[in-house]
Amino acid sequence: MTSEPKRILLIIGGGVAAYKSLELARELARRGIQSRGVLTRAGGEFVTPLSVASLTGDKCYTELFDLTDEAEMGHIELSRSADLVVVAPATADLLAKAANGHANDLASTALMATDKQVLYAPAMNVRMWTNPATQRNIDLLKRDGAMFAGPVEGDMACGEYGPGRMAEPLEIADAVEAYFAKNAAGPLTNKRILVTAGPTHESLDPVRYIANRSSGKQGYAIAAALRNLGADVVLVTGPTNIPMPKGVGIVRVETAREMMEASEGSLPVDCAVCCAAVADYRPAIESEHKIKKERGGLTSIPVEENPDILKTISQMKDGRPRLVVGFAAETDDVVTYAEVKRKRKGCDWIVANDVSPGENCAMGGESNTVFLITDDGDEAWPEMPKDEVARHLASRIADALRGPSLVKAAE
Ligand code: C5P
Repeated sequence: MTSEPKRILLIIGGGVAAYKSLELARELARRGIQSRGVLTRAGGEFVTPLSVASLTGDKCYTELFDLTDEAEMGHIELSRSADLVVVAPATADLLAKAANGHANDLASTALMATDKQVLYAPAMNVRMWTNPATQRNIDLLKRDGAMFAGPVEGDMACGEYGPGRMAEPLEIADAVEAYFAKNAAGPLTNKRILVTAGPTHESLDPVRYIANRSSGKQGYAIAAALRNLGADVVLVTGPTNIPMPKGVGIVRVETAREMMEASEGSLPVDCAVCCAAVADYRPAIESEHKIKKERGGLTSIPVEENPDILKTISQMKDGRPRLVVGFAAETDDVVTYAEVKRKRKGCDWIVANDVSPGENCAMGGESNTVFLITDDGDEAWPEMPKDEVARHLASRIADALRGPSLVKAAE
């Protein structure tokens, strides 16, 4: 992202999810994005202007006809003061007003008067969401060029279940970063990067598979961080249950062989980051029918070795990416084993981490303590949230890839 901090106008509508917008403001601030709040009257029933002001670090605007506000900053200026307008929660009423051009309070007037892109994060009861009127309004807004994050399916505050829940603040913040990344040049602009992430599932029969505990979080965070620096990212991912990063090319796969094929299909790239926890082995035979216990079916599982994606890409004769980064999850002697692995696979860098089970286990957890192992030796990084590890790694990749893209030049 550019050095000038980006600014959001955060319009908070009247839904239970309004409290999550406070989290969103904090998450955006953590990512270096400032926000200024506009609270609708109904929004004010759920959160207070004071909490919005505290979390945005700015005045919270509530009234259209307010002499003091107008003297400080007119509503037209307010609507244009940001680089992006985010409406979260976007209630059925706010969406209806925006779609039909109403301007009868500060929020709807700001939406009418803005010259900036608008990102809506809808939140409402499932029946209100599926109501044809709401869907018509969504269509209209989409046709007018609005962007959407969510809603997602889940339990609702009203006790029902279904689509209509506001996307989580992390997902909305990701959509905001993706928007800014798309519209700004960064150090990785014009560089194409492959990221593999998540586990692989290796089928035994139609209902069983061999898998591992990888959540995909670290790989997704790396894909998003590279995107934020302007890279054209292809994310080849095994099955996960976390939101996909926005603004990157996604290829979903299940098995190691599919991941290999998809990864090779994404070449040539300037850099490959193999973060996936690929199963080393797959069952030698995949049974067409469920293996029955009565027939003594599963006393042992003969296996076959899976292709090694990192090794194959690292050892390519022609068109090898300029930089190949592997990961090493170890439970002891992390650096020693990782250095051996770097040589054996032939990759340039290894990001090694300790995955011994415990309170802060990186597998599935939120943070990671890693070593970066390169030709120049090994660096121990302090424990950081996974997205911060990703930002540090992305910035090191950007340094290493300075100069024109060999891939893009050849296209
Ligand atoms: O050999 P090991 O699985 O410990 O190596 C880990 C590294 O190799 C990771 O970067 C992982 O993404 C990659 N790998 C791969 N294909 C495999 C096995 C591992 O790309 N079949």
